[in-house]
Amino acid sequence: MSRQSQRESRIKESVDRIRGMTGSGHPDKALLLKIEEELKELATAKDLFSLEDFPPPEDGVKRRNCLYRLSEDEDHRFALYANVASGAVDAPPHDHTTWAVIVGIQGREENRFYQKTEDGVAITGNQVVEAGTGVTLLPDDIHSIHITPGEPVINFHMYGLALEQLSGRNYWSSVNREWKVFPAHTDIREARG
Ligand SMILES: [Fe+2]
Repeated sequence: MSRQSQRESRIKESVDRIRGMTGSGHPDKALLLKIEEELKELATAKDLFSLEDFPPPEDGVKRRNCLYRLSEDEDHRFALYANVASGAVDAPPHDHTTWAVIVGIQGREENRFYQKTEDGVAITGNQVVEAGTGVTLLPDDIHSIHITPGEPVINFHMYGLALEQLSGRNYWSSVNREWKVFPAHTDIREARG
């Protein structure tokens, strides 16, 4: 079996189980932790999710991360991406309007968590996502992402709905000191068979 076929079947098995446990409902924190465990299991297949197969953005491109779409249902639910970065990435504090689970495969992605305050956001904690760790976010939870230049990063980002469907994600602009709507991601690459 080719690596591509192996990858497709492993992804399908994992997403099928995640879809099975979620059904048509909205996952709570406990279920998100189960989804995280499922993705951690998938992430152990490191040879199927390598930088060789999922290269980071080319040198000279300003945006230093890109997303490879690994799976998405016909109704756009259960969207699984490989997020790949090489160089500095700093995503401002934002929500998702759907659930999100991030699980590390290689490299380090720092997540910082926030609560809303009257005049913006206040940091409440942080966690590094790397091999063997992950974070879970409910639709209103706010995080920011920070990657420093060095070892490239590859990890899973899974969302309750595909990113193109999430037109109302909000981010905190520290420059303008106001909440703004996140513009669409500009580098999502198709990686389904
Ligand atoms: Fe996010």
